Amino acid sequence: MKNPEIEKRIKDLLEKMTLEEKVGQLHQAGGSIVGAFELSFEEVLTMVQDGRMTEEEAHKMISAAELDWHEDDLRAGRIGSYLGLVGSEKMNRLQRIAVEESRLGIPLINGFDVIHGFRTIAPIPLAESCAWEPELWQRTARMSAEEATAAGVHMTFSPMVDVSKDPRWGRIAESAGEDALLNGLFGEAKVKGYQTDDLTRHDALAACVKHFAAYGAAEGGRDYNRVDMSPQRFEEEYLPSYERAVKAGARAVMPAFNDISGMPCSVNKKLLTDILRKRWGFDGMTISDANAIAECINHGIAADRRDAARQALNAGMDMDMTSGCFLDHVKELVEAGKVSMDKLDEAVSNILRLKFELGLFDDPYRSSAEQEKAAMLTPAHRALAREAAQKSMVLLKNDGLLPLKQGIRIGLAGTLASNGDEMCGTWAGAVQPGDCKSLRDGLDAEQIRYSMVTEELLPECDVFLCAVGERKAESGEASSRASLELTEADKTLLNRLKESGRPVVAIVFAGRPLCLGPAVECADAILMAWHPGAEAGPAILDLLFGRVNPSAKLTASFPEATGQCPTMYYDHIRTGRPAGKFKYTSKYLDAPVEPLFPFGFGLSYTSYQYSDIFAVQTEKGIHAEITVQNTGDVDGDEIVQCYFRDPVAQRVRPIRKLAAFEKVTLQPGESKRIAFDIPKEALGYYDQDMNFVIDDGLIEIHIGGSVRDTLQANVEYHNS
Ligand code: BGC
Repeated sequence: MKNPEIEKRIKDLLEKMTLEEKVGQLHQAGGSIVGAFELSFEEVLTMVQDGRMTEEEAHKMISAAELDWHEDDLRAGRIGSYLGLVGSEKMNRLQRIAVEESRLGIPLINGFDVIHGFRTIAPIPLAESCAWEPELWQRTARMSAEEATAAGVHMTFSPMVDVSKDPRWGRIAESAGEDALLNGLFGEAKVKGYQTDDLTRHDALAACVKHFAAYGAAEGGRDYNRVDMSPQRFEEEYLPSYERAVKAGARAVMPAFNDISGMPCSVNKKLLTDILRKRWGFDGMTISDANAIAECINHGIAADRRDAARQALNAGMDMDMTSGCFLDHVKELVEAGKVSMDKLDEAVSNILRLKFELGLFDDPYRSSAEQEKAAMLTPAHRALAREAAQKSMVLLKNDGLLPLKQGIRIGLAGTLASNGDEMCGTWAGAVQPGDCKSLRDGLDAEQIRYSMVTEELLPECDVFLCAVGERKAESGEASSRASLELTEADKTLLNRLKESGRPVVAIVFAGRPLCLGPAVECADAILMAWHPGAEAGPAILDLLFGRVNPSAKLTASFPEATGQCPTMYYDHIRTGRPAGKFKYTSKYLDAPVEPLFPFGFGLSYTSYQYSDIFAVQTEKGIHAEITVQNTGDVDGDEIVQCYFRDPVAQRVRPIRKLAAFEKVTLQPGESKRIAFDIPKEALGYYDQDMNFVIDDGLIEIHIGGSVRDTLQANVEYHNS
């Protein structure tokens, strides 16, 4: 619901604005690097891409450089927003130019990628999703917002709710995995956590839902690649997560880099206007992905920058992230009648609306250097990062080795065990060296004795802790992989430790599912630690020593072989020849069809028993219940998962689909009855003619502790 007072202020302001000033509001600028010559961020990227500069050199240069924030343009009303400006004093200085020295005094909005923490880094989103705990997701978003806003940030380019079924895609790290419901709930919790219900609070951070839409379905898992799928699949599996995050109140949306069926999202009117604004009623701001409007020329959909600007604005794009196409061409497009003044006013209004909602007009200076300092890495934030990491790490194998006993002699192996800075994972732009604690830092802090494994030496010890996996730069944007195998060095190390005959715990750091077959062979226990953030080491030790019982469950399937991607995800649709012993069935000659570790899987130091499943149709859908008991001897949190299956439908349906879940705490011997209410819309799908239908007839309900381990109840469902 629009606020009439704000709408009036927008209208009054629009009347005073010149055409140039309107265009200026649409432009988001990045800082240029100041030096002997002027180099834009994009030029640096190109130099890295073509090998003229290494990534490390570029990073050093960018972080050390004094940036030019184009103050003359700001004063002249040619900039509406900045990308990537960090620091309250710098922000206040530039905001003062906008507010006090530009003709109309329109404040800036400053956007930054706060993806999983600002200074206090929480686990990467894929890891955090394995906690299956919306309340936790919301709290870590709140923490991020408190720190980022104190450093002068007004808007984060998060949450990313791209359903990611292909772990070759590096950006799976930024998602909540392969399921639509989980991504939607994750996004909703993040939006609430960032924004609160009062955007004018100094610590409220506007959320920007991205990448709209279906970026996670990039063909072959290759970043920036095409997306092509049926409209049914798009509606059923890919759109719902964006819809949920938008309807949770997110005030901005970022269209994706990719095309969908040949139409790049940046110029896709069906997406940006018909679905987003007309169908979902979104009245916030859209902002392109970095340089994405100009890239419509590379897509071969725009003749030049002017043509790209015309198409994007007319499709429903409001702000141009750094390409400059809007700034350079919208004025002439309006004058030539290629873009209407109404269309331009609409885009400007959407941007001004967010600035008014955030209270930037009335209260533009929102933090100080002292506040900024006090907000970062507080004990409460560190404690939350540790809790989030404990709840995100998935125990994949345990042959009785864990939990470790106090006083056990440890041999520590693998370079990732000693590198705190690698623990933050992808997208941690404000992190400083030393912010994140490695496994070794954790051992040192607790004064636990250990000896290092070196090239020559296997030390005397009772157990090896062996770190393997990926460095932070190996997942995230532009980090797709054609092979998900462990490196040769990791495999050799694991083998060497196994040959010693002493027990091995493999601790896997990664931004994506990897092929962990060799670890399963060599290690007695495997902890999937992901990139766990600021409190990596302490949280790993909490779990290894049993001070905390592991509870996380996978939100993305782990392949046996890379060639299983992208078809091994849990909600694959049924085929006419399901994999079986017979040759002519849907399978591979050289790899199984099933993943090595399935969706929903994760071990604990206790055991659970499920019984007495029951399901019945209600007015609103289906009600289901089950009893779960802790049959072991330690407390535990169990993630109870409720799936359904429609065995005969008008279109081929998934093998199973997640409908609901609940995390429940149980003491030894305790049992609880868990109830789920599945709304009937969740059972529906689109028929061949794109009508939304819910079938009459049998619906199977499957409830349990992982997709492979469930009890079944049947419901005869009737629509009337
Ligand atoms: C990414 C976005 C990000 C933007 C701004 C792009 O390359 O795709 O996710 O928000 O950069 O940093």
